[in-house]
Amino acid sequence: MTTDLTDSYGRTIKDLRISITDRCNFRCTYCMPEEGMKWLPRSEVMTFEEIERLARIFVGHYGVTGIRLTGGEPTVRAHLPVLVQKLAGISGEAGPIDLSMTTNGATMRLVAESLREAGLKRVNISLDTLDREKFLRMTRRDELERVLDGIEAAKQAGFDPVKINAVVQRDVNENEIVDLATYGREHGVEVRFIEFMPLDAEGHWMNDKVVGQDEIVAAINAVYPIEQVRARGAAPADRFRYLDGAGVIGVIPSVTKPFCGNCDRVRLTAEGDFRTCLFATDEFDLLSALRAGETDDQVAARIEAAVSTKWAGHRINQVNFIRPGKSMSQLGG
Ligand code: 5AD
Ligand code: SF4
Repeated sequence: MTTDLTDSYGRTIKDLRISITDRCNFRCTYCMPEEGMKWLPRSEVMTFEEIERLARIFVGHYGVTGIRLTGGEPTVRAHLPVLVQKLAGISGEAGPIDLSMTTNGATMRLVAESLREAGLKRVNISLDTLDREKFLRMTRRDELERVLDGIEAAKQAGFDPVKINAVVQRDVNENEIVDLATYGREHGVEVRFIEFMPLDAEGHWMNDKVVGQDEIVAAINAVYPIEQVRARGAAPADRFRYLDGAGVIGVIPSVTKPFCGNCDRVRLTAEGDFRTCLFATDEFDLLSALRAGETDDQVAARIEAAVSTKWAGHRINQVNFIRPGKSMSQLGG
């Protein structure tokens, strides 16, 4: 029997993000320091079997319909297609789950086909700049060409849609908003511009480094006229259509127009801690519960108790905002 997993504000949880590794082959400045990240020991990271068991509880008990794999960088995890195949086989009352992944794209040429064959449906690939030097500064890796090729590989493998995530930072890549939009139009991919959030490991985030949705939309609209598509519902992105029919862009206004009121997402970190928000200060250790031999029902009870603590919203713009003690790579995008 599937029951709704609903929090105390009436939001029903439908989407689960699972970080499958805290490691990454990039060092994006808005996420990780150059050196000195402490990686989790392997024994503390969820095994494929443990990930599958938790995923089945979320889908079977609670009608979660979408699962997104994140990291760190999910493709650095060995034998990833084996995990994808396990998860792609999970069906709920609403049918097979919508299984997707967020990746930096650097290894997509190598893995796209096997992931597609294993049953992965959609990918989001990060691309914040089209300038090789800036790419190197932003990710600390000289891999722009490989990422661009990775995006083509994802399209060729049949992922549909392929979306591009671009985090916009003031004085870093704000001057490339239109160029990235042009790239999306020419390559038939939906570019989603993401407002910079206070989740960088080095703590350099400041409000004035955020380029807000209104500014992003105005910059694009001045060159390619756009109109808003529809209310976003539970999806984080507001979508805008090019009036000339050349596709769609998205903007994720986490800071200037938070969408917490419609949020249907929860997260599992690579070490099996359950979080009800990126910015939550509490974690619920489900992996220890599994390893202590708890039944599915016992674990489910922990999930329900945790979801009842989901906050009304984050407080990025308020004076009493507390930064999470973890960076994006440890939380999972
Ligand atoms: N603010 C906004 N988005 C971020 N991401 C990583 N760090 C940040 C941040 N500080 C994005 C990445 C990727 C996704 C997993 O999260 O660009 O697209
Ligand atoms: Fe790696 Fe993604 Fe963090 Fe960049 S943002 S360092 S690609 S986990």
